[in-house]
Amino acid sequence: MMTEYHCHILPGIDDGAKDVETSLAMIEMMKEQGVERIVATSHFYAHREKSVAEFMKKRQDAFEKIKDKSPIKEIYLGAEVAIEHGISELADIEKLAVEGTRMILLELPYRAYSKWMSEEIYNIGAEFKLKVMLAHVHRYLEYYSKEELEGILSTKAVMQINNEAFSNWKEKKLVKRVIADEKRFAFGSDAHNTDDRKPNWDLLKKKVMPDVIEISDRILDRYML
Ligand SMILES: [Fe+2]
Repeated sequence: MMTEYHCHILPGIDDGAKDVETSLAMIEMMKEQGVERIVATSHFYAHREKSVAEFMKKRQDAFEKIKDKSPIKEIYLGAEVAIEHGISELADIEKLAVEGTRMILLELPYRAYSKWMSEEIYNIGAEFKLKVMLAHVHRYLEYYSKEELEGILSTKAVMQINNEAFSNWKEKKLVKRVIADEKRFAFGSDAHNTDDRKPNWDLLKKKVMPDVIEISDRILDRYML
């Protein structure tokens, strides 16, 4: 079951789909590209939100607007949780795991690596028995040293790979290694709209074999409750 692990399809909640129309158009594109189920990962920035509960309510309201009209029915609500200092201590953080699963998508900051980032990742996983999925790991090549990136890759997190990673040779090299080395990776479009950051599963299907996509597809089932 082709699974989209990272996208911003919910209307009006983050910098993704700006309205219901865009949201439905994005889902339609995904469907045409073969996607069968979607994990909707709206941005969650702790310093901007009042609480996890407020965020979840906003997210649910956004989902209600498209739920009945969506061309893909299997949609799981999740979040792309930005790793901030102390995030693991935030009340209810564990509720941001993908609904019905024990998997949570975390986004590393776009700046030089610090040890506290790994600590936050570890704490969230260990304290709440959650499986951490790290968003677009290949995007940090320019921020982290080789050793730091190796450190990240050696964790037990699921490495989320954006479909476009294969078009840049440096990222491609890293991603190919992740695919060859482990069985813990998950593809996503990280789509935000229908133009410059649109669903791009057609791109991925040109770059990897169907059996590789199937490994990614099965990850969600592995961590279902
Ligand atoms: Fe994202």
